[in-house]
This record gives sequence, structure tokens and C-alpha cells, in this order.
Amino acid sequence: MSGFDAKWLRLREPVDGLARDVALVDAFSRYVADRAPPATVLDIGCGTGSTYRSLSQHLPAGTNWRLLDYDPSLLAAAEKQLGTDGIEFVRHDLNQPDGMPLDGVAIVTASAFFDLGSAAFCDRLLGVLAARRIGLYAALNYDGRVEWQRPHPLDQRVVADFNRHQLTDKGLGPALGPNATEHLRTKLDALSYDVSIAPSVWRIGRDEADLHIAFLRGLVDPVLEIGTLQPEEIGEWMAFRLAYVRGERGGCEVGHHDLLALPRD
Ligand SMILES: C[S@@+](CC[C@H](N)C(=O)[O-])C[C@H]1O[C@@H](n2cnc3c(N)ncnc32)[C@H](O)[C@@H]1O
Repeated sequence: MSGFDAKWLRLREPVDGLARDVALVDAFSRYVADRAPPATVLDIGCGTGSTYRSLSQHLPAGTNWRLLDYDPSLLAAAEKQLGTDGIEFVRHDLNQPDGMPLDGVAIVTASAFFDLGSAAFCDRLLGVLAARRIGLYAALNYDGRVEWQRPHPLDQRVVADFNRHQLTDKGLGPALGPNATEHLRTKLDALSYDVSIAPSVWRIGRDEADLHIAFLRGLVDPVLEIGTLQPEEIGEWMAFRLAYVRGERGGCEVGHHDLLALPRD
């Protein structure tokens, strides 16, 4: 099991919240509100509960939530922060999609999750949802685009190597990484879902410098592992980037996409 750092999840949550596409959140909320009450929403790969914190305020009172993750420490942190009123916490490894607790579930949500999965994993999971005509809101999947306001000659190579690393196995088979949204769209369309997609771009400025620094530091090991850049080149690039994160034109954008898939019938 590869651990996801609660501190990293906390840093990204406000930027994720601002990035989410508002029209898709509205359509998601309407779909849940139109189900016979009380609807149940299952959030997979819930981490410390960021998706719940973002979306629950848009849903009718009485909506039930089931939060699922395989990491007991993240689940414990989510439970501590959210309490148990209207929320169940389930420990489950999604490598077994057939065992997902889907009873009564109207729609599955996930944030920053599907880009970790392989094509085979996603296809299996979508097949399980389609068999029960359950909807899917899959937000904040990384799309491979990182652009800094202040360019450096190595930016494109760093991002290209990072994107290659995003395709390696994160515990769910060789990951789709930046191809996740397009893969989900094609598969869900074939399974008779109406699919809507919209960009959900991280806009990182001076106020988000801590997230920016954590993001930059998180690039180093993956890029070193791919190995086309020398450690000194990465060191020089990193020093340049860190020097500007709190300065004028020191910001960056990181591309993501949100997807909402609702059963056609
Ligand atoms: C990038 S984090 C996103 C967490 C949360 N959705 C958020 O937006 O803050 C990915 C989450 O997926 C969970 N995860 C990864 N592989 C999993 C698996 N095989 N089964 C269940 N959860 C998994 C991790 O523990 C982590 O909480």
C-alpha cells in the first residue's frame, strides 16, 4: 500500500475546492436531490474526507454518505474531523471492486483518484457501477499540464518526465495518469452514460506557496527515477523555482479535469 500524506491532502484541499467545476457540482447536486430520499453517496479513495467537505453542503439534508479508503490512518483522521452523523466509514481495498459497499448508492464520488488507476482497474470498477446503473462524479484528475508564469528552460522536460512517472503503478496497475479522464469518458459512453467533462485547474499563487513548494518537492523523486535529467540539472531547476514561489510572477497552473457520468436510462 502506498501511503498518501495527510499533510499533502490538507494543503491541496482549498485549491481543489476552488478548482472544481461549479456547473458539474450543480448537476451532481441536482441528480442526488432528485433520487428518492434519503440518497446515499459513496466516496471512494476518500482520504481525510475532502470530497465530503466540498460537496455535502450542496446536497439535501438527510443525504447519507459512505466514505471508503484502504488506509486506516486516513479513515481515522476523516472520522475524527467529520464525526459519524450521517456518515459511515468503510475500510476496503478497491483492488476488489466487486466488494464495494454499493447497497442503496445513487452515485459514487472520487477526487484525485482515477488517475492512479490502470485501464483494467477502471474498466472493472465502471463495469460494477454500470451493472447497477450508479452514477459517477470523478473530480480533479491530473491532465498532464503544468505551466509556470516565469518560464525555465527545463520546465518541459521536468513535466514530461513527471508525466511519464504518472503512468507507473500506484498500486492499481500501470496508471492512466494524464489519460484518465479520456479513458473514463470513452468507457462510460460505451456503457450508456451521459458524460460531462470540465477543466478544474489549480491556480497556485503566492497565497498557495506552501502547496506550490510541496508540489515542487514531490516532482523530484519521480523525475530522478525516470532518469533523463541529471540530479544537478534538477537541483538547478528546483533552486530557480523555489526562489520565486513567494515572489512576483512566481505562480503556476496545474491542469485537472472533472467528470460527471449519469446513467442514460
Ligand atoms: C490522492 S489521494 C485523494 C484523497 C481524497 N479523495 C482527496 O481528494 O483529498 C488518493 C486516495 O486514494 C486512496 N487509495 C489509493 N489506492 C486505494 C485502494 N486500492 N483502495 C482504496 N483506497 C485507495 C488513498 O489512500 C488516498 O486516500
